[in-house]
Amino acid sequence: MTWVEDVRRRADERLPEHVAEYFRAAAGHGQCQREGIAAWEALRLRPSVLRDTSRVSTATTVLGTPVSLPVLVAPMAQQVAARPEGEVLTGRAAAAAGTVLGVSTNTGVAFADIAATGAPWWYQVYVMQDRSLTQRLVERAAAAGARALVLTVDTTALAPALPGVEPTEWPEGPGKARVVNLTAAEREAAGPHAMRTAEDLHPDVIGWLRELSDLPVAVKGVLSARDARRCVDAGAEAVVVSTHGGRRLGTSTTSARALPEVVAEVGSEVEVHVDSGVREGSHVVAALALGARAVHVGRPFVWALAADGQEGVTAALEHLRAELVTTLRQVGVPSVADLRPEDVVPAPR
Ligand code: FNR
Repeated sequence: MTWVEDVRRRADERLPEHVAEYFRAAAGHGQCQREGIAAWEALRLRPSVLRDTSRVSTATTVLGTPVSLPVLVAPMAQQVAARPEGEVLTGRAAAAAGTVLGVSTNTGVAFADIAATGAPWWYQVYVMQDRSLTQRLVERAAAAGARALVLTVDTTALAPALPGVEPTEWPEGPGKARVVNLTAAEREAAGPHAMRTAEDLHPDVIGWLRELSDLPVAVKGVLSARDARRCVDAGAEAVVVSTHGGRRLGTSTTSARALPEVVAEVGSEVEVHVDSGVREGSHVVAALALGARAVHVGRPFVWALAADGQEGVTAALEHLRAELVTTLRQVGVPSVADLRPEDVVPAPR
């Protein structure tokens, strides 16, 4: 059993079934979710020898923020359903590990409490049908100290795909948590439709968010060179290659497959990040060798949170760090910054 399988099993034992089901949910028949992991597994590393790896460094920067390892906590809704303190615990673990916490629009934790964890945090934005609600959330996140915005653009059709979610509800979650960073009056006045994700988005939304917040914008959910180009031309400072953990489209291509073309198109201009299916240190090494600046990891951290609270998230982060260090030594590369495409052998297609 892998460490992720173990932590998932223990999370499932603790969680009510509808919450466990929400965390593991995948679109379609789960093809994209399974293949997302398999695609990282299929990559092979090409070790170099006679290199000095007596000292190994995993440190880098992401949108100007120093991190001690290139593994970020992906924004995930409904963490308060894993543990009532939700991102307060995840954030403390991220702070202790020296990495960035992604914070979902649909977090059940107040921005001030997230900021108090000490973790650098990025606010994930769903643009709502009522743009004024998005504006308020973005302004509040920026005022509370978010260091970047992560604009998720891949979820317009997500709601019906997830079990336990009524189409009229917020697309991320079994409805246990509210968007607490809006007031009750704001939520009530808005009604359910105003808070659904907008389906009429254009790249100019990137400039709008940048102007509102003065924060760099990373666009999450990009899977092609063409879209990466449109985002960068519209002012994005990073793109996150992502299938939303296989939660959006069962028959989607995988992040590992899409990454090289996105890097080739925009990698010399902006940071390219990647998520979906990253489970091991060797996956991180492969992603970075293919040109990613950092990876984001989702489910394993929310399962660790559910199973063991803050300590569980810390253990998961440290597990990945240890695997990353070992793998770097094994491939003969002393620093994450030194990884190159030649260090990976592509899988046969
Ligand atoms: C997510 N994800 C997500 N993404 C986002 O932009 N906003 C959100 O609110 C959420 N919520 C969410 C909840 C849960 C339970 C999961 C599992 C995922 C997607 C997340 O940020 C990330 O893209 C994937 O989780 C990465 O894939 P893995 O690591 O889970 O395979």
